[in-house]
Amino acid sequence: MSKPLETVTAPAPATSIPAGYEKRLMITAGRASRELGAKIADRLGLALTDAGLKTFSDGEVYCRYAESIRGADLFIVQSVCGSQREGLTVNDALMELLLMVHAAKHASAHRVIAVTPWYGYSRQDKKSAPREPISARLVAELLEVAGIDRLVTMDLHAGQLQGFFSKTVDHMTAMPILTQFVEDRLGDEELAILAPDAGRVKLVRNFARKVGAPYALMEKERPAQGVAEIGRVIGDVKDKTAVIVDDIIATGGTLNAAAQTVLDEGATKVYAVATHGLFSGNAYEILSEGPLSGIVVTDTIPLHEGAPDIIRQLTCADILEDSIRRIFTDDSVSEIFAGENQLF
Ligand code: R5P
Repeated sequence: MSKPLETVTAPAPATSIPAGYEKRLMITAGRASRELGAKIADRLGLALTDAGLKTFSDGEVYCRYAESIRGADLFIVQSVCGSQREGLTVNDALMELLLMVHAAKHASAHRVIAVTPWYGYSRQDKKSAPREPISARLVAELLEVAGIDRLVTMDLHAGQLQGFFSKTVDHMTAMPILTQFVEDRLGDEELAILAPDAGRVKLVRNFARKVGAPYALMEKERPAQGVAEIGRVIGDVKDKTAVIVDDIIATGGTLNAAAQTVLDEGATKVYAVATHGLFSGNAYEILSEGPLSGIVVTDTIPLHEGAPDIIRQLTCADILEDSIRRIFTDDSVSEIFAGENQLF
């Protein structure tokens, strides 16, 4: 016969928190961001947690963490971009990120933080024509449904994308890396900093202020998707070294057209800097045959093979490492940029 409830002895309460218990920081990376993830982990003094990623023969993606992540703050580094080396498309990378988040949530991680420096689909952030999707919003919803607690991202195509999330978004910027590079390498030249379209004006004004140079704007039209036409330069570039500042280089069409216009208006040389180097389609060919003297991007997106010599890649691992450490310890993240990370 079972005992009456009041006579059942309750188990002895566990002794509060075990001595030496500490919140755990763990970091893992998807296959689209293995190198960047490894650099960040190295700077944090940690090893990347193996997420057991693979693709089945039918193309489905799979994930299983090789060790317990229960109770940990798990940072998942994965840009939403394809990887030629890993044989991943942009959609594979997105699905992989969603599965990694979902698996972490259901493996009882304390917080699951997607570190997605390049937010794929970010350019589809509104309806530009009837019956189009707002894909950037759908990606936000997918990430939240999968189980993110927050998102760390970098130089969003439009800062307003943060509003697609109900979870916290830490919007970081690579601008300090790029301004430093321009100051170090081109600081002795008479510079003009250029925005290739109206959307970049605020960014470029801040950039120009940082490097102590004037700025100018360009009129850009997109007669069709993936086609860029640059009208004229508003501002003075004559006899100057021009630096075009953009967030993304995709097909390279914008940059080539912009660089040619700037040279036609009297600039002596033209360089370009951007946070995200997608280099899609035949961008390498177009850019290496074009008028630019040099292009600098960061490693938010891995360069695929065959990058021409004019492309230089700088790492954003230090900024992301600092951000992750501060998020883990609940410190201010905007302090990294002296509060100037909401650039556009
Ligand atoms: C557009 O608004 C963006 O800031 C970039 O200028 C654009 O995505 C670059 O694309 P592409 O290299 O294909 O011209």
